Amino acid sequence: MTTKNWAAGCTIRARRAALGLSLDDVAHALGVSKTYVSYVESDERPLTDEQAHKLSSIIGIPADLLLLSAGRLPDDVRQILVSDTAGVAASIRQQKEQHAVEYPTTVTAVPTSTPRARVAGPLGIPKRIAVTKTKSAYRAHSYHTKVPPEAITPFIEALSQPGDTVLDLFSGSGMTGVAALARGRNAILSDLSPAAVHISRNYNTACSVAEFRLALDRVERAVSSTMRWLYTAVTHPERKIEYTTWSDVFQCPECSGNTLYWDMVQSSVGIDAKGITCPHCSSVSRKTDLVWVREQPVQTHVSAGSNRIQSHDPTQSELDLIAEVDATPIPYWVPNVPFGPEREMWRASHLAMQITEVKQFFTKRNLHALAALRHAIVAESEGRVREALMFAFTACVNRASRRYQWNAKRPTNVMTGTLYVSSLRYEWNVWSLFRRKAADVERYFATFPVTDARVQVMNRSATDLSCIPDATIPMVFMDPPFGSNIFYADSSILWEAWLGLLTDHTEEIVVNKSRGRVGGGKTLGDYGGLMTRAFSEVSRVLSPDGYAVLAFSNSDDKVWIEIQKAIAAAGLETATVHILDKGQPSIKGVKGVTGKETVTTLDLLITLKHRRGLPKVFDHERAAPNVLIEGAVTVCLKNGGCRTDEIYTTVIQTLLTCNETLLGITMPAIAARCAKLGGAEVDGKWVFSYPRETKSDYSDD
Ligand SMILES: C[S@@+](CC[C@H](N)C(=O)[O-])C[C@H]1O[C@@H](n2cnc3c(N)ncnc32)[C@H](O)[C@@H]1O
Repeated sequence: MTTKNWAAGCTIRARRAALGLSLDDVAHALGVSKTYVSYVESDERPLTDEQAHKLSSIIGIPADLLLLSAGRLPDDVRQILVSDTAGVAASIRQQKEQHAVEYPTTVTAVPTSTPRARVAGPLGIPKRIAVTKTKSAYRAHSYHTKVPPEAITPFIEALSQPGDTVLDLFSGSGMTGVAALARGRNAILSDLSPAAVHISRNYNTACSVAEFRLALDRVERAVSSTMRWLYTAVTHPERKIEYTTWSDVFQCPECSGNTLYWDMVQSSVGIDAKGITCPHCSSVSRKTDLVWVREQPVQTHVSAGSNRIQSHDPTQSELDLIAEVDATPIPYWVPNVPFGPEREMWRASHLAMQITEVKQFFTKRNLHALAALRHAIVAESEGRVREALMFAFTACVNRASRRYQWNAKRPTNVMTGTLYVSSLRYEWNVWSLFRRKAADVERYFATFPVTDARVQVMNRSATDLSCIPDATIPMVFMDPPFGSNIFYADSSILWEAWLGLLTDHTEEIVVNKSRGRVGGGKTLGDYGGLMTRAFSEVSRVLSPDGYAVLAFSNSDDKVWIEIQKAIAAAGLETATVHILDKGQPSIKGVKGVTGKETVTTLDLLITLKHRRGLPKVFDHERAAPNVLIEGAVTVCLKNGGCRTDEIYTTVIQTLLTCNETLLGITMPAIAARCAKLGGAEVDGKWVFSYPRETKSDYSDD
């Protein structure tokens, strides 16, 4: 360890000389030899307490300073150290480990514009791309909305050459980099969120599996006693607590009687559509009117040597362990991030449960376990391995939190897109979670592509890519936030709190109602303005014959219109439009605009190029020609068996291809058109209910 101690030797010598004292004079006063004093003056010998006080009275430098220079703590600090060692250790680590993680904000290898061979272009790319989420790249670390690399690959193949640099300015988990590396392309990835940068970097940087394993063993040795203490009850040292089910206890607003929510759910008595019936006074209340009192463990799930997990009511010894951990200080760095109504994903129920800081999303036991684990990881000296371990760490942070909902059949997972804490939840053994995630991460690195291509990841806003020169990027892939569907800064808050770095939400491109304008709140117009700036940066860095691919979906036509305006303002235009079927509803697509939920499994992938001629003048006040809309609907109805969202997406595809406005194009509007054109919805799919010539007013045969 290097020393940063202030050294007083020179000052002592200068003062002695200024006071006209010889080495002999000082040596005599201190009762030491001349040599001893000259060693003190060259900082080679520390003063004792007594010598420091004597010397202070001779040369006038405070004894405290002389002692600090000698590496000794002042008395008051020493007393605190003795009386609150855990607190002191925690606060020192709090400072020392706060900045354990840092990310670049610029590229180091700046791309240049070099002559390139012609690329195939987007016309040969399939109009519909279907992908699944099963590849191993998906399992190592979650992200709120991943575009699978398989969806990006056809674009990379058609629009770039091996050795080219592909840019993704909203890189999220970095799947564009994963697709690029697999095809021998370099990539520059950028995201505003430090969590996204962390995930992107790890998905896109090779790591030695052997080194990772060795580091994992060291971390295990460092935390094993803590983990054992946290998850083993004294009476059953052979049993490991794998997870614990917790339940809220509520107070009835009428009679003030307390009820364990678990008991109600288990008996299924007292909970129905009308509300919750109090077992004490039989009054019926809405769940939100019940007063949260506390939480309580209701089941323990243990393993002993084998993989079989056995469940039982918590034993006294297990309850004692929880109480012991609750009363024990955590001597490690813990996140220090407030969580309140200024966050879009904050709910009154968080306050009711006394969650006002991110660390309160964890039980004390899991907070302690995560803090010990993070401490062991950041102590690792080798940067790549340390980051890879942090990757496995953040991969289990959400699961280790109180957000893991109880499920009657079996534990499923944490619900994304919300920070909701359910009244029944699981508290997982952090070490077991981490081991499993570390194994996934190790598997990922074992199959990392061998290539000369490189991915650079930076942490900056898409609205300012000034570190990339003009016209140097042959292909851009971008999947920006879809209006107000996901609040990324909030969704990533648990990861970022543990990384010690938060998203600069004032720059976040999102429609945000809860924050005031000063706090980063943004209207739809602000969103459109930021998108225009981002697309303008894309247009600036895109080479003259390059293509940008925009992934987008939104059920609100007003959001689409902002996107259309931003594309036009940036000097870009649509080349081709493709439908991406991710196979399951993305949460981005779940919210509707009519208040009721409309679910789509489809996104659009729009290729954009520099606009050659004058901009098409969009009239966003007037809907696109009926003939185009009804033509697309009719084709779907004729083909038969399409869901509303499929027809809706096809209409959008048609209108975007023709550079027409999407005004009025919503799922309910398309369903109405289907019905008007003679369609009927059978089992969720539209078919013609009768020969359309007799009913339809569409006449374009
Ligand atoms: C739809 S996600 C991208 C997901 C990504 N395609 C993936 O596969 O994981 C949108 C991303 O935009 C980021 N973002 C929001 N505002 C931004 C800004 N001003 N600059 C850069 N990134 C921003 C969010 O942090 C989020 O990661």
